[in-house]
Amino acid sequence: LVPVAIDYHGAPIICAILEAQKAILGHDSKKVLANLKIIADKICELIPILKRMYERCDPKVFWKRVRAYSGGSRNSELFPNGIFYEGVMVKDRHVNENLPNPNGLAGTWRMYPGASAGQSPLIHAIDVGLSIDHKPIGKCPVSQSSTGSCPASSTINPMIEMREALPGEFQEFIKDLAVAPNIKHYCQANHQIPELSTEFNRACLNMKEFRDTHLQMATRYVVLQRKGDSTAVGTGGTDLVPFLKQVRQETEDNAIA
Ligand code: HEM
Repeated sequence: LVPVAIDYHGAPIICAILEAQKAILGHDSKKVLANLKIIADKICELIPILKRMYERCDPKVFWKRVRAYSGGSRNSELFPNGIFYEGVMVKDRHVNENLPNPNGLAGTWRMYPGASAGQSPLIHAIDVGLSIDHKPIGKCPVSQSSTGSCPASSTINPMIEMREALPGEFQEFIKDLAVAPNIKHYCQANHQIPELSTEFNRACLNMKEFRDTHLQMATRYVVLQRKGDSTAVGTGGTDLVPFLKQVRQETEDNAIA
């Protein structure tokens, strides 16, 4: 219910992104600024909604009784080899080639990420609308890798994978947003109006706050339930602590200098 409430309350952010993009086409900087204010304010309002997760969702109950149903078959303790799909022959990146087929059956071992609120179309629209770029895991922005906390590099990009799990029309919408007039570039190009960058940065920093709150939540509901083992894996199959920290860092670093 909490992700749904967030998508519902955040819907005006999507309208404001579209309005800002339209205003760029119309060379209307006042309108771009007004919509950036809406984006920044509304992102801030999502944080107390996110915290409502604590109201009626006890971390122990979540860990012991709820979470298994969202789990996937990638990076999974329950299914270390994935799941064998009898009769499914298609070879794609979900196939685990390392095992022989059981009893010589035709089919493929497959590993899929599970369900995650990271499949929220709103959050992806915000990332794309603000040009927050997410790299594959381990491809950290400079500021994080210099602290030594960057995980090993890989080619897996969980944010892009979550985007690919959205219903087709949402995916198309997100792709369209990405090729529409770029709000960040507009703010950078119009530095003679400093309020544009100020509001843009406020939106990025509020999104970073949202991700801070979420990381604390994931720690409480998952990492602490494993007696603090920070190698915990999310239902989406990510090594959650390095992944969520990287995403948060990329959000902070997106602010205009
Ligand atoms: C009990 C509550 C929650 C837990 C334990 C949790 C845990 C996680 C974990 C472990 C990930 C990493 C991906 C994975 O491997 O699954 C993730 C990603 C994500 N989750 Fe949650 N989550 C919770 C609630 C929420 C809620 C309510 C939202 C609201 C939209 C949300 C939004 C996201 C987003 C957007 C991502 C992608 C990473 C990012 O954008 O920072 N989560 N979550």
